[in-house]
Amino acid sequence: MNKNFLWGGATAANQCEGAYLDGNKGLSIMDVMTNGSKNHKRLITDSIQKEYYYPNHDGNHFYYHYKEDIALMAEMGFKCYRMSIAWTRIYPNGDDEQPNEDGLKFYDKVFQELKKYNIEPIVTLSHYEMPLNLVKKYGSWRSRKLIDFFYNFSKTVLTRYKNYVRYWITFNEINAIEFMPYFPAGLLIEEDENRHQVIYQAAHHMLVASAKVVKLAHDINPKNKVGCMTLFGVNYPRTCHPNDVLKAEMANQDFLGIPDVQVFGYYSDYQLKQYQNKNVHLDITDEDLEILKNGTVDFVSFSYYMSMVQGEKREGENFAQGNMVAGLENPYLESNEWGWQIDPVGLRITLNYLYQKYRKPLFIVENGLGSEDILTSDGTVHDDYRIDYLRKHIQEMIKAVDEDGVPLLGYTMWGCIDLVSAGSGEMKKRYGFVYVDKDDYGNGTYKRFRKDSFYWYKKVIESNGEIL
Ligand code: BG6
Repeated sequence: MNKNFLWGGATAANQCEGAYLDGNKGLSIMDVMTNGSKNHKRLITDSIQKEYYYPNHDGNHFYYHYKEDIALMAEMGFKCYRMSIAWTRIYPNGDDEQPNEDGLKFYDKVFQELKKYNIEPIVTLSHYEMPLNLVKKYGSWRSRKLIDFFYNFSKTVLTRYKNYVRYWITFNEINAIEFMPYFPAGLLIEEDENRHQVIYQAAHHMLVASAKVVKLAHDINPKNKVGCMTLFGVNYPRTCHPNDVLKAEMANQDFLGIPDVQVFGYYSDYQLKQYQNKNVHLDITDEDLEILKNGTVDFVSFSYYMSMVQGEKREGENFAQGNMVAGLENPYLESNEWGWQIDPVGLRITLNYLYQKYRKPLFIVENGLGSEDILTSDGTVHDDYRIDYLRKHIQEMIKAVDEDGVPLLGYTMWGCIDLVSAGSGEMKKRYGFVYVDKDDYGNGTYKRFRKDSFYWYKKVIESNGEIL
């Protein structure tokens, strides 16, 4: 691998920081999501209610442990750390006139700590944690006003941290809006609304906001590199029947209709046709079109957890579980405890697919295995299953780079220090190299323990991927 390859880990503020009211932080959309489980969806309760536990209120206490956590990352040899800035620490209500200095100071300290160890921050501006007030007061991204609020927030942090951060990501997975509109866009769709109309208009506003911020980041410092971030795993046809092949290819296009705009600066003909077919009429101004054109991204980042299978469902076949969305079960693959199918080769195919389409450097900013780890009496976790998962994915990643010529900036393993699951709200769905002593209800010491995978990843980084 290239000697500048960015090995590291990834988290999101709402899933790790906790301290949901400290330093004058405002409520985010995640602060009103209860915990769930494999079989129970998380509830969105509008306001905080005593009978529920809200796991994001505590996260993994990164807010209090950031020094220790960054030291652990440094011990593993991290070259980079993907994190997000909680919008509600900086603008507690989203539409405040002035930023909140306490919140800004917190990230000053985080960036200083990262700098101490030469760890490059990769910063997502909005990772499923927008201010709740913007949802209540303006109907969230339904409103064009949100473009300005996001722009102001971004301007504040891009300026404040301009000496610390070179890599920015505007939004996490806008394209998840199709499946879980609340996560990326804080949308709760009313029964009498045209779901597609609401979702795509909101996505359009986010795309305009994203493009404006890409341009702003380049104006602030031409050395800034700004990326989009997309939820993606390649779709396979169920069989070689042309109808199945077509379905799989259309699914790929459906996933990428949103990032297409961020990369090319305009909507694809396919995407516009889909809007027409769905009776969606977007309010797109000439100014919007200009903004989109002038705010194309420098790199394409994505999360990869699984491939998907599309096609005619036969009797006896099942649908797989997955990250927000999934296709049919793939009989050739095994699954994790949450039913997510494990497909390392799919990562190589995905890298090739995205690079052939976009011709921009790629960045794997999420990949990993959620598992119920067991902390042993000697204070460690023997997670050979995680090592096996990561080893196989990294092997395929290296083949994509060395054998297929895909330009790849880096790899950040998701949830490097155990954190709250976005989908289920559980703590026991653990991804980390570091175990955090906290259960699904917030009980525990929050003490950190190195897992076997911690020492394994350290060697991977040290050898730049030679020793797996
Ligand atoms: C990604 C999200 O799509 O999936 C993360 O960006 C999330 O926020 C990750 O945590 C894994 O999903 P889950 O539901 O296992 O937390």
